Amino acid sequence: MPAHRFLPPKTPLTGRIRVPGDKSISHRSIMFGALAVGETRVSGLLEGEDVMATAEAMRQMGAHIEKHGDEWRIRGVGVGGLLQPDGALDMGNSGTSTRLLMGLLASHGITVAFTGDASLSKRPMGRVIEPLSQMGASFESSPGGTLPLMMRGALPAVPITYRLPVASAQVKSAVLLAGLNTPGITTVIEPVPTRDHSERMLRGFGAELDVEEADGERIIRIHGEADLKPRQVTVPGDPSSAAFFIVAALIIDGSDLVIENVGLNPTRAGLVEVLRQMGGNIEELDRREVGGEPVADLRVRHSVLTGIDVDPAVAPSMIDEFPVLFVAASMAQGTTTTSGLDELRVKESDRLAAMAAALTSAGARVEELEDGLVIEGTGGEPLRGTAASPVTTHLDHRIAMSMAVAGLASKDGVEVDDTAPIRTSFPNFMDLLEEAAA
Ligand code: S3P
Repeated sequence: MPAHRFLPPKTPLTGRIRVPGDKSISHRSIMFGALAVGETRVSGLLEGEDVMATAEAMRQMGAHIEKHGDEWRIRGVGVGGLLQPDGALDMGNSGTSTRLLMGLLASHGITVAFTGDASLSKRPMGRVIEPLSQMGASFESSPGGTLPLMMRGALPAVPITYRLPVASAQVKSAVLLAGLNTPGITTVIEPVPTRDHSERMLRGFGAELDVEEADGERIIRIHGEADLKPRQVTVPGDPSSAAFFIVAALIIDGSDLVIENVGLNPTRAGLVEVLRQMGGNIEELDRREVGGEPVADLRVRHSVLTGIDVDPAVAPSMIDEFPVLFVAASMAQGTTTTSGLDELRVKESDRLAAMAAALTSAGARVEELEDGLVIEGTGGEPLRGTAASPVTTHLDHRIAMSMAVAGLASKDGVEVDDTAPIRTSFPNFMDLLEEAAA
């Protein structure tokens, strides 16, 4: 458990940095490549522990996955061709690996045990067990619908029409991936749009998938017993990783930082919009397309931020960015109010409780409500920082990195109890911090 004290940098954040590849797109590149017949090549893949857990699971079921130079090469087995793994699939800390693979394997005639770390073993799997059971898969989970669990896939599975009861791209993707090897058309109705990487990428891999908008809902249909074709994937930089540097540059006096190659898919870009509403100076340079996703270089300059009421409708497009938004809010002028964030309680940790406790111990004024935080900013003054005891990250990478950013903008620094979880999504986070402050 490496603890670390994050201190204010000696210089503002300047220059140009590049964050690692998008985690959601990296998981999907490996999964879809493993189902295509032939060789998929992926550049810019995130080599974090979560994505490596997906890769290891796909290897256990017959895919060949190797790194050649900067490129990953995946030789897939074809839809329906995944093999019975010898042992349990260890999903580590990764909810995305678990829920998407449960979907993918639900329509294969194999029996699979899923295990994970202490954080993942607390997270609800009932949300995927429910629709996948309707498709014919059977489950034996730990009490409360958690890992470890055993799943028996159905062959053939039954196509369903499923309206998402929670705004979750993982649940949507689980059902669509189960639909890949299911005869007929599997339909997901999405009342609130969530990240659409599965839809974009499945189409790119040659699946027949249509999206229709009706009465404000998205209706997504996947045609089963699909054939996926191998392709070249270029993974754009992860906006959820860029978020830590965006907020750090905004709150550290004198900063002027360019973050290159940041994915700005509209289903992911809510944070940039909210920070601009708060007065953040974030400029998009060289907007372009990378791997079918909108991308830009972001120039971020230190700004005086003002508290706002964050519209709960933007939550799905920045669901992973609230911890670091709370840090920005704690140094803004006036009050920031957030609501509609119940989903934050079932991430790698309960992120409302964890951030309220961590920011309070660093000197911020935070009130925790059932579905959001209300934060009284310092008006631009640095936070005090933590004194005797470190903040607790609860095996949650985004709590660790958010509080690291808080430490950079504090008087005494912030001590984080465990930086190891950062490796799940952003292995070179510490190096890039040093680079930006050099
Ligand atoms: C993800 C979806 C989101 C997000 C997670 C990645 C994905 O989870 O929090 O980090 O890749 O589909 P939910 O579907 O639970 O909101």
